[in-house]
Amino acid sequence: MGFYLTNGHLPFSEPCLGREEWEAVERVFRRNWYTTGPETGEFEREFREYLGCRCAVALHSATAALHVALLTLGIGAGDEVMVTPFTFVSTVNTILEVGAFPVFVDIDENDYMPSPEALEETVRREFEERDGVWYSRSRGGKLKAIMVVHYAGQPAKLEEIEALAQKYRLAIVEDAAHAVGASIGKRKIGTGQNLTCFSFYSNKNMTSGEGGMVTCDEIGWEKALRMFSLHGIDKEAYARLKGSGMPFYDVKVLGYKYNMTDLQGALGRAQLKKVELFNKKRRELADLYTHYLGEVEELAVRPLRDGVTSSRHLFVAELLRGDRDELLRELLHRRIQCSVHFRPVHLFTYHKERLPYKEGDFPKAEAIFERILSLPLFPTMEEEDVAYVVESVKTVLARSRG
Ligand SMILES: Cc1ncc(COP(=O)(O)O)c(C=O)c1O
Repeated sequence: MGFYLTNGHLPFSEPCLGREEWEAVERVFRRNWYTTGPETGEFEREFREYLGCRCAVALHSATAALHVALLTLGIGAGDEVMVTPFTFVSTVNTILEVGAFPVFVDIDENDYMPSPEALEETVRREFEERDGVWYSRSRGGKLKAIMVVHYAGQPAKLEEIEALAQKYRLAIVEDAAHAVGASIGKRKIGTGQNLTCFSFYSNKNMTSGEGGMVTCDEIGWEKALRMFSLHGIDKEAYARLKGSGMPFYDVKVLGYKYNMTDLQGALGRAQLKKVELFNKKRRELADLYTHYLGEVEELAVRPLRDGVTSSRHLFVAELLRGDRDELLRELLHRRIQCSVHFRPVHLFTYHKERLPYKEGDFPKAEAIFERILSLPLFPTMEEEDVAYVVESVKTVLARSRG
């Protein structure tokens, strides 16, 4: 059993930091430079090398990354962005933050993401073309982009969605908060023509405490990404203060305070060296869950699509019969903490009031939300822990069967 069980609790997720991270933070203390600086710069360089992309900008979260990605594309008031409602709230909030409208598209039950067909159907149903621009029939807004969420670490059908984006002249922003290290064939998520946003929040596949990265191949976007993430200033503080130039700067756009600190950058560098190992362990544990849970008739685990490598950020199972909340409660009694990803965004109080959607509008996302649970999964878990979770699930379900 893992050490956490001896503490009486199996967490849903746990950060895996060690001596290397400790030493990395010490390095920052010795240098006595804490905000954006050499560690962040090296982290960006190493992340670029890891993915094989041309541009990487480190930020304080994936939420910040999504926000500056939309700003860099010039998306704002009067624009519309297609997105799944089956995501973390911040994916959608960044669209609202820039003043654009989120056009929700329901998910496919097989991978919990909108299919390319559903995306195209939505364009055709809700928009009409005038002079090469797709305008909303009901709101008049211009369709500008698709926000693609790689749910649970499985890549979305990116190539098909890219073909669609080209056909309708749309940009793509990828929410890869779950997907560091995921790939489609040999293509790593975060490479290619889109702006891709990663998260290094504490429960993610690699962490810098809080943190995020936006990547792209379009070098022309880098300056805007950096400006929007530091008050709209045209130079970074480190370059300004440590450089030889005069201490003046200009503000070119309305920007935000989204830059990554060197403490985060140092942690990120240490974690990046381990992320492939972490993901390998996640895959092994997920395969074990899949194997054991195959015998449980009340549960379904959707298989990954052929040709993709998931980063296995989450292990999601669907309860086909019975009360999911009761199962969550019973597992908690057995000191197993699970989670649910996600409550569809249109069901939140704020979004219900602000957006013209109502319960029942996205039946697949709503039905799946009622059935799913994310089981504990993190690299320092052991095989016995998976066995303990599976045995507990089986016991609870057998009891409710009567
Ligand atoms: C799908 C998705 N997008 C975005 C985010 C936001 O990430 P961050 O906490 O780094 O802003 C999360 C965080 O859990 C997420 O799950």
